[in-house]
Order: sequence, then C-alpha cells, then structure tokens
Amino acid sequence: MSPNNNQSLALLNNLTPTQFLAEYWQKKPLLIRQAIPNFKNFLTPQELMDLATDEDAQARLITQKNGKWQVQNSPLEEPDFAKHLKLKNNLWTILVQNINHHMPQAVDLLQQFNFIPHARLDDLMISYAPKGSGIGAHIDSYDVFLLQGAGQRKWQLSNQKDFSLVENAPLKLLKNFTPEQEWVLEAGDMLYLPPHIAHCGTSMSDDCMTYSIGFRAPSYQELAHEFLSFLQDKLPENAGLQGRYTDPNLTVQENAGEISDAFATNIYEALSGITWKNDDIADFLGHYLSEPKAHVYFDAPIEISLAVFTKKLAKTLAENLSENLHEKKVQLSLKSQLLFTQNAFYLNGEKLTVPLEIMACMRELADKRCLNGTVLPPNSLAVLAEALYEPYLSGFIELT
Ligand code: SIN
Ligand code: CO
Repeated sequence: MSPNNNQSLALLNNLTPTQFLAEYWQKKPLLIRQAIPNFKNFLTPQELMDLATDEDAQARLITQKNGKWQVQNSPLEEPDFAKHLKLKNNLWTILVQNINHHMPQAVDLLQQFNFIPHARLDDLMISYAPKGSGIGAHIDSYDVFLLQGAGQRKWQLSNQKDFSLVENAPLKLLKNFTPEQEWVLEAGDMLYLPPHIAHCGTSMSDDCMTYSIGFRAPSYQELAHEFLSFLQDKLPENAGLQGRYTDPNLTVQENAGEISDAFATNIYEALSGITWKNDDIADFLGHYLSEPKAHVYFDAPIEISLAVFTKKLAKTLAENLSENLHEKKVQLSLKSQLLFTQNAFYLNGEKLTVPLEIMACMRELADKRCLNGTVLPPNSLAVLAEALYEPYLSGFIELT
C-alpha cells in the first residue's frame, strides 16, 4: 500500500497526514479518541518487566514514596520489581525503551506513523504503572504520540512557560505545574504532544500501559560536533591539507614568545581550504542518522555463500509473491535502520553500493522495511543478491 497523505486516518482524528502536519505537528497537542480501535495490547506487565531485565534493554524504574522520587536505570533485575509487586499502594512505573528492537508488532505499530520520516523516528517505549502512579509533571524535548495500550491513564496538560525544576530530584520534575486541560485515556486513545508541553500522566487502573511513539531531533551542537569529526576523515583529500607549516620568509621577531599574525594568517589560509557542500551534509546525515545506538548488537546468521544466499533470496521473493505465502519476507532486522538520500543508501551507519536498476527495490525496503519483489526488474536478482549479501551476513537483513 503506498502512503496517501491526503487520506483521512482514524489514527489522526480523521485528519489527513497533510492536515495533521500543517495544523498540529510541532505546534499543539491533539487528543485522538480511538486512534486505533480495538487496540490489542501486545505485552503484559509481567512480559514488560521480563524485557526490562534483558541485558541489552534500556529501562528505568521510577518510584515515589512519601513524595520522594527514586530512579533506577538498567540493568534491572527481577527482584527490583518483586518488592513493588508485593507492596500494595506502592507508587512505581517501569519504562522500557526500544521495544521495536525486540518485537515485530512494535515495528508494525511504528509503520503506521510512516507519514513522519524514519530519520525523525526514535523508538517505541512502553510503560506500566499501577493505579495512582506516574512519573510526575515534566516537559519533553521531543514530539511524542502517547497511545494508551491497556487500562486508563489521566493526562493533565499545560502550556505554561515556567519550566523551573524541583531541586535535587533524580528526574526533571516541574516545580510549579498548573494543569489547564485534563483527559482520561482508554485503550486505543492517543494524545499527540509537541515538545515543551508540560504534562503529567497518572495511572487510573492497575493494568495501565502507555505506549510512547517517540521522535528524535538532534541538537545543532551535537550535529556540528559529529559533522566535524565526520569531515575530519575526509580532510586530506577535501582540502589539499597535505604537507606541513613552512616559513621560508621568517624574519626575526621582537618577542620570541609571541605567535605572530603572519603565523596565524598562514594557518587561517590553509584551513580556509576546508569546505563542504550539500552532498557532504547528506552523506554525513545518511551515516549518522542510520547509525545504531551504542547498546545495539546484531545477531549474525550462519555464514552461507553468495550462491546459496541468491537461491534463498529468490525462493523467499517467489514465495512472497505466490498466493498464500505473504508472510515470507525479505526484511530489515528489527534493530536495523535503512535510510536514503537522493542517490545513496545507508544501512546501520554504512553506505551501501546500490546499482541503479535495484534502487526502486531498495527504496521500498527502506520505506516499508520489507520487500515483496514486485518492484524488482526482471533479471536483477543477482544484482539485488550482491547488494544484500554483506548486510545479510552482518545480521542487518533477514529472510524469514
Ligand atoms: C509514561 O509512559 O509513564 C510517561 C510518558 C511521558 O510522559 O512521556
Ligand atoms: Co513525557
């Protein structure tokens, strides 16, 4: 199904993606009742806690007792929850990031938000909180869709500009929160929040699970830092910076301790040779934005030859195209990020060699995270196999 940005969606309160972006995105909150009717919660609180103890999970356990907050970050262990489960009237929340790295259902859910570029999408976080619990009033720096997965949660919102924080708290809590709006969300309801809207969510039931579809927006400072180190690897060829400082016309200085203007001008002129174009920025963004997060590891499959891989690929594509076997897929592995610029593809921080004839195919893989083979031109299987072989061996793509 190709995305139609002019088709109204229940997910967006019957707005079209185009209308949503123009009226709400990064501008104002939107409450969407039954954004996903009959939403099927795909994790029980116990399963969420199990996931939180996974060695590569990113999880936080936030507790509140007599007004005192505590935050415990992963690695978390089973006994960390056990004591809270036993104690009635104990206020606590468990939040687990990157659920989409572990569960295909989470990736499918994120695909519904395809009207926002993948480069902006961060992850799916799921929280569980027993009745009365929450993580306090705060602001986030990023856009988020808060989808109620199970139970009920009360959301209070404020447009306040007072962002002063509670001192000495282990998390960023607003000192003076003055709610202006309040809603109780049921399973399938969703609230979109742009950055910097003060909000406070309180669980209203013992089965409250909230799904946060979170976005990312790197700071310009971070981008500058990363871009300059990216540029560094290209410097010698980019700027003609071979060689070394020379001063055959050196004259005697009055003060030997002084770095002279002539010295600085010489260096200024050499460094002024460092330039970059739009293409360099696009190349940097492709590498940087597709780079896996620090804790992410890929599971490599058993090594096979290119010939065997080509056969496997052909079989998977053929089965996908046959009547009943649509579940046969060539797909990105759950932790993979494939992005492209006008003419270059980047998979998990690496640039791929993609011949022109399979570009449409690779765009489909990037957009939908899977391939059904209909856009593969005849006789291009070997070319596709060659492009996907190394990524397959690295565990970046899977044939299932
Ligand atoms: C939660 O799920 O408990 C908190 C999500 C948020 O406030 O951003
Ligand atoms: Co928040």
